[in-house]
Amino acid sequence: MPATAIIGAQWGDEGKGKATDLLGSSVDYVVKFNGGNNAGHTVVIKQADGSVEKYALHLLPSGILTAGCTPVIGNGVVVDLAVLFEEIDALNARRVDTSRLRISASAHVIAEYNKQLDKVTERFLGSRRIGTTGRGIGPTYADKINRIGIRIQDLFDETILRAKVEGALELKNQTLTKIYNRRGFTVDAVVADLLSYADRVAPMVCDTGLLLHEALDRGETVLLEAGQATLLDVDHGTYPFVTSSSATSGGACTGSGIPPTRLTQVIGIVKAYTTRVGEGPFPTELDGDPEGYGAFLREAGGEFGVTTGRPRRCGWYDAVIARYAARVNGVTDFVLTKLDVLTGLARIPVCVAYDVDGVRHQEMPVNQTDFHHAVPVYEYFPGWTEDISGCRTWDELPADARAYVAALEEMSGARISVIGVGPEREQSVIVHDLVRH
Ligand code: GDP
Ligand code: IMO
Ligand code: MG
Repeated sequence: MPATAIIGAQWGDEGKGKATDLLGSSVDYVVKFNGGNNAGHTVVIKQADGSVEKYALHLLPSGILTAGCTPVIGNGVVVDLAVLFEEIDALNARRVDTSRLRISASAHVIAEYNKQLDKVTERFLGSRRIGTTGRGIGPTYADKINRIGIRIQDLFDETILRAKVEGALELKNQTLTKIYNRRGFTVDAVVADLLSYADRVAPMVCDTGLLLHEALDRGETVLLEAGQATLLDVDHGTYPFVTSSSATSGGACTGSGIPPTRLTQVIGIVKAYTTRVGEGPFPTELDGDPEGYGAFLREAGGEFGVTTGRPRRCGWYDAVIARYAARVNGVTDFVLTKLDVLTGLARIPVCVAYDVDGVRHQEMPVNQTDFHHAVPVYEYFPGWTEDISGCRTWDELPADARAYVAALEEMSGARISVIGVGPEREQSVIVHDLVRH
């Protein structure tokens, strides 16, 4: 697998971290290509002595946990330098080697004023808020598109850095003080803060696009790991209730400098049900349902945000969304995660289409307004009661679990190659080998 992308097929938290970790040992490079520390990936690794180590990663690619693999922060990422070194220090304290990390000189940095603007804008929006993670992601990408962003390479030229910060603050201080009634930032303080990281980050910085290109030319393998997911993508998601980056497979190319012609495999990570954090439409949402299935999924699945601790909104599997994600990303294989969470349910609903004002929609409605009014059309599948967390092969799964997975595969637009039956790396049923050299 020369270049493979891993993308989220729903609204995030599908288990991308675990899937990346699963593939980590067979790849040479793992690249984060979008987003920043709004992501939260949990990776659970069983140690040789049988104990379990749990890691929560935000900014660093999950490949950082795999010895021998080079983790890369690509040009499409926005970097909070304080968080970068906090995460590195925390991993080093747990004896994880982070020395191979490489960072694109063209990645943008999240300045303090953008964190402040993210928070105050959300408060100002009130009922129209997005429910962001408050990490400064949106304002930093807005600066990038607006051509007033600060890039990693600017840390190495103080004159340029100062000029750019001055330019950005001219407008931002007006906004903060005159619209939001907050204190502004001084150029000196922002520049000093950013420069304080320059020496430490310098050895990690390079032309990551060239690095990856040369690696591919040598026949090495590159895994591009998305933050967020298809329905949170700024172009293809439920805009405006999205993040501000390209989380789909197209973004894997622009966010890393790897051309589309090099991408040979796109792995979509999809949960056996659906969750969402923050605001925005979610047709199969169950929260507040009288039968308590939403609460069941949240508890059984441990559906609380890794980044903000917020309870995730929960609902049934939505095949319309999965099909959409398969199409937008060109998914070649799905990894179906958290099948174990559904154990014990008598019957499991799956949304196969939407009803919008009496009209049946097999595909995502063209207009967001219709999506807000979409009522799921459900098909029901028998559940199973056997504990499946120890299953490792397709044949070990109970017949009803196999039938459920087979039905999802039929509806979702790509084959299901791996089934997650628990959080640990080993708790996976491999149906088709994902590693194709
Ligand atoms: P990501 O953001 O896509 O990397 O996903 P998160 O880490 O935010 O959320 C996925 C959660 O599900 C994590 O706590 C994982 O440890 C856990 N997880 C992943 N796969 C499975 C699975 O197959 N079964 C169970 N029970 N948990 C899983
Ligand atoms: P991973 O990589 C789930 C959501 C936020 C909010 C919206 C915009 O762990 O799947 P932002 O701070 O990005 O401007 O917030 O996007 N969001 C996520 N939801 N998983 C994530 O990442 C998310 N990253 C952002 O809750 O609704
Ligand atoms: Mg997550």
